[in-house]
Amino acid sequence: MENEKLKRGEEIELVISDLAFGGQGISKVNDLIFFVKDAIPGQKVLTKVSRIKKKYVEVYKIKTIKQSVDEIDPRCEHFKYCGGCTLQQLDYEKQIYYKQQQVHDILAKIGGIKNPKINTILPCDKTFYYRNKMEYTFSGNPWYVDNETYDDVIIGLHVPKRFDKILSINECHINDPIFNDLNTAIKTCANKFNLVPYDVRKHVGFLRFLVLRIGVHTNEVMVNFVTAGYKPKLIAPLVELILENFPNVKSIVNTINADKNNTATGNTKLIHGESYINEKIGDYIFKVSANSFFQTNSYQVKTLYDYIIKTAKFKKSDIVYDLYCGTGTIGIYISSYVKKVYGIEIIEDAIKDAKFNAEVNDVENTSFYASDIKDFFNEKNNIADKPNTVIIDPPRPGLHGDVVQDIISLSPGKIIYVSCNPSTQARDVKIFMENDYKISDIQPIDMFPHTPHIECIITLKK
Ligand SMILES: C[S@@+](CC[C@H](N)C(=O)[O-])C[C@H]1O[C@@H](n2cnc3c(N)ncnc32)[C@H](O)[C@@H]1O
Repeated sequence: MENEKLKRGEEIELVISDLAFGGQGISKVNDLIFFVKDAIPGQKVLTKVSRIKKKYVEVYKIKTIKQSVDEIDPRCEHFKYCGGCTLQQLDYEKQIYYKQQQVHDILAKIGGIKNPKINTILPCDKTFYYRNKMEYTFSGNPWYVDNETYDDVIIGLHVPKRFDKILSINECHINDPIFNDLNTAIKTCANKFNLVPYDVRKHVGFLRFLVLRIGVHTNEVMVNFVTAGYKPKLIAPLVELILENFPNVKSIVNTINADKNNTATGNTKLIHGESYINEKIGDYIFKVSANSFFQTNSYQVKTLYDYIIKTAKFKKSDIVYDLYCGTGTIGIYISSYVKKVYGIEIIEDAIKDAKFNAEVNDVENTSFYASDIKDFFNEKNNIADKPNTVIIDPPRPGLHGDVVQDIISLSPGKIIYVSCNPSTQARDVKIFMENDYKISDIQPIDMFPHTPHIECIITLKK
């Protein structure tokens, strides 16, 4: 088939043969590759062409003509519209099979690694109700589904590619169950008291986001109301409702974001209890504040951190740099195996939490610094101790080019690269390999069942 002959809007039948990183089905007709939204391997589907590029064609599924043998009924009533757990219609065993394949293909294509040897992906025991954080949006602008009617205030998630339309969520099957109860109760109360949701087009209104967090091993819950202004009287009925009905809520905070940016960040004020909750990983306890990063699957994070210890084979004399350290969780978790850990992270509050966490856990061999890693190694007040091991756990865009060069200049014997984006990880690993490092271990871990996301630890040695 030639793509010149295809037209936008044309209907075409396809058999799905593979799953791309990101969750789209792949169909190959002669040399032409089709990316099919919402389709899984083994399905025969009727599709409509939406975009024609030189090397591939994007289509969307109109209907399934023949089911896949690996297809299962999605649990979630919102599956068709939500876009969060796009793999829910695929048997879990197959989900992780394809994630493993994707790591292989990405390392080969982007990393230029011939036949990468990859350990079998570590699956997640708990495949539902595992998320410890959810960021819902308050809205008066629902995505209309069938003949449903909506209250003035809905709470839900963005419909894919729509910044202004919110899908009202009754029950999410990957977040902690208490979030569903809080969501329903808060929605009812917000409507009863005629609270006004924020309108992202007109930039008027009050309630913006509802951010919920739980320490699943401590059962402590945080509710963060993100509002366009500081008006404690307006949220008082919501606070009262929570205090009367949800004894596990140990922290209620109010983040004020009066800016036009559509984010759940800003100046955070304490409304009730503490400004943080606690979570446990193994024997350690960690403070989680409203604006700090914390791994979103508390059930699987121990597997991730234990694997770092396994692959690192630490010695008591080791000096370790924990780059992108967040609240110091990795550094503190590995601290008893090494001589000293230095953690670096851009968010000052996270570094305050990291120092606090080291203290509460009686860990004395860690030091934490607040800095953009890109600037840290240029500054004069640099760390005198040079590392044997550097652990990196950057956000999805991966490492800044300067940071890769800084790490190469530090010349550690081992680099342990933890990533939630195998594409940028493969790009960065390629540069390390061009600078005398060799891959000694590749371990994918499923932290996010039913979503297309993949976590992977790559160990490099000199
Ligand atoms: C994937 S998280 C890892 C956190 C931590 N290692 C953990 O396991 O909880 C990435 C962290 O990098 C931080 N970060 C993002 N950009 C940064 C930068 N330029 N310099 C330093 N830290 C950065 C984020 O604030 C976040 O805490």
